[in-house]
Amino acid sequence: MAPARALLHPAAKPLVFVLALLPLAWLVYGAVTDNLGANPAEYLVRSTGDWTLRFLCLTLAVTPLRVMAGLPPLARFRRMLGLFTYFYVVLHFLSYGLFDQAFDFTEIAKDIAKRPFILVGFTSFVLLTPLAATSFNRAIKAMGAKRWQALHRIVYVVAPLAILHFFWMRAAKNNFGEVAVYAAILAALLGWRVWNRRRGAGVAARTQPTGSRLS
Ligand code: HEM
Repeated sequence: MAPARALLHPAAKPLVFVLALLPLAWLVYGAVTDNLGANPAEYLVRSTGDWTLRFLCLTLAVTPLRVMAGLPPLARFRRMLGLFTYFYVVLHFLSYGLFDQAFDFTEIAKDIAKRPFILVGFTSFVLLTPLAATSFNRAIKAMGAKRWQALHRIVYVVAPLAILHFFWMRAAKNNFGEVAVYAAILAALLGWRVWNRRRGAGVAARTQPTGSRLS
């Protein structure tokens, strides 16, 4: 089947939805079967952080892939992937809140103020919230395409903050290999957008607000 036809298949979206839930299913299975290593709480906080970053990369990869591969139907998946980014960051925050702070919101507030890497992670979480909240067609209509696009440029702040959060966390262990890989991927994806806009070929991408979120 040609890629464009496969992407337009009625089962394509449900399939992506199920695939995006697999990391959560894997974590739940690991928790239930006691298979999350010596420190399950840490494992859950870290894996949900990793999946947030992976979904952010996937969401931001949709437009460059769509344009470069000439596959307009790819745009159908962008909103869902963006919302899954938010879904995993909510799980990440909840895992931290539950396992590190026992949902004591005073302690959470103190920790955010005290530890810079938590503050940076929390800031990127807060900044992602309006992007997730305005990812629906009604919000796009109400805001108008221009304002919606301007708001969604917040992702240019969210991505570096997410990398800084990861970098800061790994700095204690002097372990920057994975951080460098994610930083390079996100820099390439955001750099492509800037380049594409400058060369003027980004018009189509920028004037098609429907179906695209977080980018
Ligand atoms: C877009 C937002 C965020 C992203 C992309 C993100 C991503 C990550 C990543 C990739 C890790 C490291 C995982 C690993 O070592 O494999 C991590 C760890 C962590 N993050 Fe986040 N995070 C975000 C927001 C937050 C928020 C809002 C909080 C809490 C307020 C938070 C708290 C933590 C904690 C406690 C750790 C683990 C630290 C440790 O085990 O030493 N993060 N995060």
